[in-house]
Amino acid sequence: MLAGKHILLGVTGGIAAYKTPALVRLLKKQGAEVRVVMTPDALEFVAPLTLSVLSENPVFWTFTDQEAPDQGLWNNHVHLASWADLFLIAPATANTLAKMAGGACDNLLLAAYLSSDCPVYFAPAMDLDMHEHPATQSSFKRLEEFGNIMIPAEHGELASGLVGPGRMAEPENIVSFLQKDLRSKAPLAGKRYLITAGPTFERIDPVRYIGNFSSGKMGYAIANAAAGLGAEVILVSGPTPEHKLQSSIQKITTVTGSEMFTAVNTHYQNQDVVILCAAVADFKPKEVAEHKIKSKTQSLSIELSPTVDIAAHLGQEKTNQILVGFALETHDALDHAKSKLKKKNLDLIVLNSLEDQGVAFGAETNKITIIDRDENLHPYPLKSKAQVARDIIDFIIALQNA
Ligand code: C5P
Repeated sequence: MLAGKHILLGVTGGIAAYKTPALVRLLKKQGAEVRVVMTPDALEFVAPLTLSVLSENPVFWTFTDQEAPDQGLWNNHVHLASWADLFLIAPATANTLAKMAGGACDNLLLAAYLSSDCPVYFAPAMDLDMHEHPATQSSFKRLEEFGNIMIPAEHGELASGLVGPGRMAEPENIVSFLQKDLRSKAPLAGKRYLITAGPTFERIDPVRYIGNFSSGKMGYAIANAAAGLGAEVILVSGPTPEHKLQSSIQKITTVTGSEMFTAVNTHYQNQDVVILCAAVADFKPKEVAEHKIKSKTQSLSIELSPTVDIAAHLGQEKTNQILVGFALETHDALDHAKSKLKKKNLDLIVLNSLEDQGVAFGAETNKITIIDRDENLHPYPLKSKAQVARDIIDFIIALQNA
């Protein structure tokens, strides 16, 4: 949920500021871009250089340029705020929260806050009595009424030695709070997607198999795109090389077509959308040799029998799911794809043809045509697999909203 997001981190002057380098690292690890704005008092607790090195961006705390105070250059709080997709103020002291609630603007962080139109999260950090004081409680209430989101303080040992509420939420908990909150507001929140990806391997003997060249890249890209939009995603993957996968995705690893069938079937009834991207072998050896077949054998015939057609089975069992298949063709692409759409009772089929430039096993790009139930064609230009994944999901969302 945080990958690619622009996060403006506001650091105020409380002891919990010493945890902000860890927070910046965690946000960066999630793929976010981070910029830091500090209050002057925060400089007493954490060095801006530390935050600058970790965020890989300059850190600001004054209205005028810190490097050239005599030149009258200013740090543009409006630019800082408009750059942000999300403004996170952590730690947020009682003083800063009271100023935010009252509209005060006597430092750069507060000016950025007043200029921001993105979601604002604040993680209070203060001593127990300050936290419980009606003035502070009314700041919390006021800020929530403004639409700001509080990441509640945790209960525990405080800098004063007292024990109670007031500890800034731990950096890990702040990150998971953000992820959960963003997911709950995402376009695919509450939707369940199941995606198959990669090849299947059908055993010939204990060391050999029938396989294919599928890399799994397209299926993984779809899984990541769906998860990025907030869907609950299960990815059933055949044997593929390592690909990046968002941490919220439940991955089930399978080898053979029948293992993939079992995994998909187990979860099918709960799904809203099922996208079958895997290149499932159509045939498997009728018998798997118990021992390794000797290499000295002069010639060898292997009798094959059909594998289970997962897509066709799901098409028959379909209740409310949107079922999407893929067709990778080498010739007469449209006719083959249309006939699979009907035969397997799919709602959509995504056609890619090896005759097109930029379409190949393991390629970073793909060129697709989506065919709907009425056999209307929706062609797309050559794009990265991540963009193709997004196009497919946008098409499905439009279909669901139609
Ligand atoms: O292999 P074929 O071109 O028929 O694949 C069309 C669609 O059916 C693809 O979405 C593929 O994932 C699916 N399929 C399947 N089980 C098979 C064969 C294909 O789910 N045994």
